[in-house]
Amino acid sequence: MSDDIQIQTSSKTPALIAREVARRRTFGIISHPDAGKTTLTEKLLLFSGAIQMAGTVKARKSGRHATSDWMEIEKQRGISVASSVMQFEFRDHIINLLDTPGHQDFSEDTYRVLTAVDSGLMVIDAAKGVEAQTIKLLDVCRMRNTPIVTFMNKLDRECRDPLELLDEVESVLKIQCAPVTWPIGMGKNFRGVYHLINDEILLFRAGEESVQGFEVIKGIDNPRLQEMFPLEMDQLRMEVELVHGASHPFSLEDFLAGKQTPVFFGSAINNFGVREILSALVDWAPAPGSRDASVRVVQPTEEKFSGFVFKIQANMDPAHRDRIAFLRVCSGRFERGMKVKHLRLNREVKVSSVVTFMASSREQVEEAYAGDIIGLPNHGNMQIGDSFSEGEMLQFTGIPYFAPDFFRQVRIRNPLKIKQLQKGLQQLGEEGAVQVFKPVQGGEVVLGAVGVLQFEVVASRLLNEYGVDAVFEGTSISTARWVSCDDKKMLADFEAALGHNVAYDAAGNMAYLATSGVNLRLTQERWPKLTFHATREHA
Ligand code: G4P
Repeated sequence: MSDDIQIQTSSKTPALIAREVARRRTFGIISHPDAGKTTLTEKLLLFSGAIQMAGTVKARKSGRHATSDWMEIEKQRGISVASSVMQFEFRDHIINLLDTPGHQDFSEDTYRVLTAVDSGLMVIDAAKGVEAQTIKLLDVCRMRNTPIVTFMNKLDRECRDPLELLDEVESVLKIQCAPVTWPIGMGKNFRGVYHLINDEILLFRAGEESVQGFEVIKGIDNPRLQEMFPLEMDQLRMEVELVHGASHPFSLEDFLAGKQTPVFFGSAINNFGVREILSALVDWAPAPGSRDASVRVVQPTEEKFSGFVFKIQANMDPAHRDRIAFLRVCSGRFERGMKVKHLRLNREVKVSSVVTFMASSREQVEEAYAGDIIGLPNHGNMQIGDSFSEGEMLQFTGIPYFAPDFFRQVRIRNPLKIKQLQKGLQQLGEEGAVQVFKPVQGGEVVLGAVGVLQFEVVASRLLNEYGVDAVFEGTSISTARWVSCDDKKMLADFEAALGHNVAYDAAGNMAYLATSGVNLRLTQERWPKLTFHATREHA
């Protein structure tokens, strides 16, 4: 270890690190498309003062704004292909908000982002209830028992019955609901929400930008309320009695264990309910916790820096054409210019140009602590799942790859571009934009994706970034499984016997490419000693 690391190490005080960790909250927003994730993200930023103007995030989504026109396709489709990271302050806390692509074709990317958060904010369109994408995402959160805060959005519209919504969340998502606020009316008659814990009524006032806050009236029996909304108050009292009887009171312990979700009602577009969510995240959601790093568990307050890459993004800024590896800090203190070890390559790298993600722009980061996300410039040697430390051999676990459901073969129009094609596919494979399988026999590379739109993204990026005009063609492959076995000879026999359907992915793992479900089943039956995995963790 060099002298300059020694000096940095000695300046780190455990108390400082502990304080910084304690005031961090890192969460991801999950929702089905159109539930209001973008709107809510914008309001969270607006509320915390991170952005001054409404429309920044929204415009970004629709492609009217340049800051995050990261990819042409994102503009064309008006969907968020790339996950983004935003950091802001609220009540002396540092909040890292990780956006996840809502489109189902990019769910794989979304899943990986969820490995880097400590809690989740689930947004549900209260008119529609639980939707397909929400179910999938919550399943991923459940893998790590991630605590979830729920926001029932769009109460300014006619919605479904609130009790029915809670019931649906409980039965479909298999998570207990603890309503924290309760809506008073809905649609045109939406009057506000009653805070069940604080015994306060927050009065709704339509109109964007009401960041100043909403009027609060203390006590459900306050005569003023009775005067203002005689009908609604009678109804509310009845409902509250029912809710108290039928639902679970909020339990911090159950929330932290991922068993119970506190539920808030509101209207993102009207900025109504946003403060309550932020407060819940600050007051209840966990600060960065410990992480499994194979050889041992790493505590966030340890003095030495460690972290892992959960996402690689190319060309975030078209002007720079750079690739950025998103690293979640797991412990210690990261300082700009420090040397860290890239553990898979066993290579020391000096990280001088690192970016953090302030809400409106990328800025140089001076220091970062557990829970923070930093962007490392990547010249093609970092992969998803790579761990970094000050020297100790750690391997953070839990970053999933999912067996693809769609497959294509790639052909290029100009054979002279074969090198560029290989380079492009290698990089896009490492980045996780698509899975690349090289068959042991037969030559043609097979691409696998969780959603078909990924192929369009890859075709467009091959053309724009690598100058390769590629044609994607259907294949006879319908499903893939990673194959493992302690007996290396058995694996070699398998490869020799079924070479046409055996391939290696970009990280060098063996996979079986099956032509049908029946074919897969028969192969599994014939090779009982081999294990066929539908997901794999980065190793
Ligand atoms: P997403 O990121 O989850 O896909 O959803 P987004 O925020 O883009 O919201 C989807 C639609 O729902 C948008 O309308 C948005 O304005 C609307 N919306 C979000 N929050 C609320 C709310 O609290 N109340 C009501 N009534 N609508 C809400 P759009 O017509 O698709 O887009 P736009 O024309 O408003 O931009």
